[in-house]
Parts: sequence; structure tokens; C-alpha cells
Amino acid sequence: MALTDFDLVLFGGSGDLAMRKLLPAMYARDVAKDLPPTARIICVGRQDCGQEEFLRTVESTSRPHIKSPAVTAEAWARFTARIVYVSLSATDVDSYLPLVSALRTDPALTRVYYLATPPHLFSQICDNLAANDLVTPNSRVVLEKPLGRDLASAKQINAEVGKVFAESQIYRIDHYLGKETVQNLLALRFGNILFEPLWRREWISDVQITIAEKLGVGNRMGYYDTSGALRDMLQNHLLQLLCIVAMEPPTSIAPDAVRDAKLQVLRSLKKFTPTTLAQNIVRGQYRAGHVDGKAVPSYRDEPDAPEQSRTETFVAMKAEIDTWRWAGVPFYLRTGKRMADSLAEIVVRFKHIPHSIFHQPTSSFQPNSLVIRLQPDEGLRMNLMAKTPGDGMRLKPAELELDFRESFKSPRMDAYERLLLDVLRGQLTLFMRGDELEAAWEWVEPILNNWEQDDTMPIPYAAGTWGPAAASALIGRDGLQWREEA
Ligand code: BG6
Repeated sequence: MALTDFDLVLFGGSGDLAMRKLLPAMYARDVAKDLPPTARIICVGRQDCGQEEFLRTVESTSRPHIKSPAVTAEAWARFTARIVYVSLSATDVDSYLPLVSALRTDPALTRVYYLATPPHLFSQICDNLAANDLVTPNSRVVLEKPLGRDLASAKQINAEVGKVFAESQIYRIDHYLGKETVQNLLALRFGNILFEPLWRREWISDVQITIAEKLGVGNRMGYYDTSGALRDMLQNHLLQLLCIVAMEPPTSIAPDAVRDAKLQVLRSLKKFTPTTLAQNIVRGQYRAGHVDGKAVPSYRDEPDAPEQSRTETFVAMKAEIDTWRWAGVPFYLRTGKRMADSLAEIVVRFKHIPHSIFHQPTSSFQPNSLVIRLQPDEGLRMNLMAKTPGDGMRLKPAELELDFRESFKSPRMDAYERLLLDVLRGQLTLFMRGDELEAAWEWVEPILNNWEQDDTMPIPYAAGTWGPAAASALIGRDGLQWREEA
């Protein structure tokens, strides 16, 4: 669907996200000829620099992040001609005048306000946009994470942004939903007859969802130390992946059909009590170690880290979903920084065969599993048992592999490219609704409260490993292993 002409306003327009992700994403879509010729990107920042200086910053800071397509002088000149820099103070209503004059007034035009700012500014920006009469029926607002730090702050964001924008105008981004494989999971589950009958407790023994990163906290300590892995990754990305795996078939791909189905999953997650929480959740913090053969410091020795920080950089948990479909099926979730490898994957393991007709015991049959890889390479792998070639009847594990890069030669799209296009098209399916956001916070809140009152330390783990041994013990208690340890 072709895009109608738009003004995309990036609050936080000179910030890290804009430079690393948003501008490169728009560049790629420009080169792909998706953008109408007169569409513009208005970057809003506090810094009182002129247009020329801002474009020099874009050149030096953003351009190096464009991996593909290769940047040509002509395409770069066309792209940067779309950029307008506006300096204002987000909290000062009177400073919005330059934005008022920069925006075009044609009511048919799509206006997108992308708030890549700290969340405490959301409400004031929305109010100031409204006070300056800048919110038209064709306006949309995009909210970038963190969307609150607990249930109360998430509710506050929803209420305050909701005073200015209708829910149908609000796009809450979780960039994991923009990843190719996540959408492929929808295709796999609902575009094939094969899986849906098996996608339930009768046939599935457990599900593992891992997002592991080799990266440490880098220069984001100010944010990260007040957040931690539970808020930064689990409350949003991992729970969104869990929703896509576990949701009931929606009646269509329409936004509310999908979001209703996801909401039902979030509301069916079994609540933790202080006792079940202690048994089923492991939190860790990295210590010095080696990643890719290079020595890296302990979390507490990273620049600006509080000496006695109790912030978790790793979390593993066993979650359960109280529904007819999933009762009793453990969902093991795990995420961490400075891990042995960077990978994001979902593993759905099926049950053992009930009886062996061969001269080998059922215990020698590796249960079938489906591995859905999001990163680093995107693909699907089905693990099966097959006959070893030659004489006799000996079965061994074998793999059916679908490598998306190999199978589909079409060019890749970064998650932000896809999500920005969806916002500009007015397509809400891949964005969280307000009640989903609140349900996710409601579920993690008892964990946060418990940790706040508990003055024990997260368990240390050496950088470059798979986290604390307690995480292996957590899944080991059920006779299982994390996939890379199996
Ligand atoms: C962000 C987190 O939401 O996701 C970061 O704030 C994390 O801490 C990042 O590194 C991971 O995203 P991706 O797409 O690189 O796996």
C-alpha cells in the first residue's frame, strides 16, 4: 500500500535512537522508493543548532549506521533534503512555535509524532502539541520504550497520552514485533494446518524463549541501572514473544483481533507469590570475564556503575499459563547481557513418543522440537527422528531446516523500517494496546516489589557464560536443559 504524504516529527531527533535506527530506517525506505516525494522528517531537539550543523551531525553520526543499501551521494542528498531541524524545549509550551511553522497544514497529510524521549516527557509533549493545536484527526503518536517502570507509571502514561490522542492514534513500539521471524511465527502457526492441532498441552512438553546478548551495558548505565533485565527485556520483548507463541488463533490479522488474543495470554499468566517466585526465578549480574576472547569488566566496574548496584543483568524464569490449552506446560524465559553468545530463539519441544516399535527404547528417541531463530540468522528448524542410512533400522535425530536468507532472496527489512512503515500506513497490528501494556506490568509487578524488599544480591556470573548455574538448575529440576547446554 502506497504511503500518503506525511510529516514525521522525531522528538529526540538528535538522540541515539534517531541516529542509530530511525534515520537509517527512513533512508532505506527512501531508497526503496516507499516515501512520497514531498514527505518530510522533522527532527526536534533541545540543542540550538542550525539546520546545516544538524545535517553535519546526521552525516557523521547516523550515516555510518546505514549498513545497506550502500549510501550514494545522490540518494543521500535526496534523503537529507527531507530533513528539517527544529529546536525547542519539550516542556515549554511557548517554544513550540518553530514546530508550528515547520508543519504543513494540509489536513489530508499524515502527521506522526515519534516520542523517542524519556517517558517522563510524554505527557508534557502531548499537552504542548494539543495546546499549540497540532493534533489533527490524521495525527499519530509513537511511544518508544521504556513505557513506564511499573504498573502505576504505565497507567499514568496511558491516561495522560490518552487525554490528547485516541487509542487508535497511539503506537506503542516493541521492536521485537517488527522482526521478520516474529511475523513468520504467525505465518507458521496460522498459515499451515500442521501445527495448530499439536499446539497445546497434549503434545507440547515445554517452551523455551531466550534472548541472549554478548553486549554489556556500554554507555547506557544511567538508564540501565534503574531498569535491569526484567524491565528492559522481559516485561516487553520476551512477553510479547510468549504472547505470539501462546495466543489463541485470532479471527483475523486485524489489530484488535490479534491484540485481544495477546491480552488473553497476559491475563492468563499464573501470578507469582513470594514462595513461587523464589523457586521459579533466577536473577544474575555479570562479573568480569571474557567475551569472544576479550577481557570485559564486571557490571559494577562499567563506567558510571554504582559500586553496590543490585541491578540484574540476567533473568531466567519458569512461567505458566493457566488456560485449557497450556495448563502444566512450562514456559522457560531467559535473557541476559554479556552472555556466551548473541542469540534470540524460541524452542517448542514436543512430547516423547508413547511407544517404540523399534529395537531401541523410547528414551533413545529425541523428542521433536521446533526451533524458531530470530537472531543472528533467521530460520526455522524442525528436529525429527530419521533412519540411519544402510542396513538395519536404527533411528537418529535429524533436522529439517528452513533458512530464510537462502529460501527467500528478497531484501531484508530492519524491524524499525517495518514498524515505521506500519505507523505511516496506520496499521496497528504490531503495536501494543494500552491494556496489553498494563497487563504485562501487572504480571511483573509482584516480582519487582519482591526484589525491592529483598536485599540479597543477584547471583554473580562470569561474563561470556550462559548465566548463573542456578538458571541451569531451574530447568534441570524438571529434567530439562537449556538448548545450547543440551
Ligand atoms: C532494547 C534493550 O529494547 O533491546 C537493549 O533496551 C537491548 O538493552 C536491545 O540491547 C536488544 O535488541 P536487539 O534487536 O538488538 O536484540
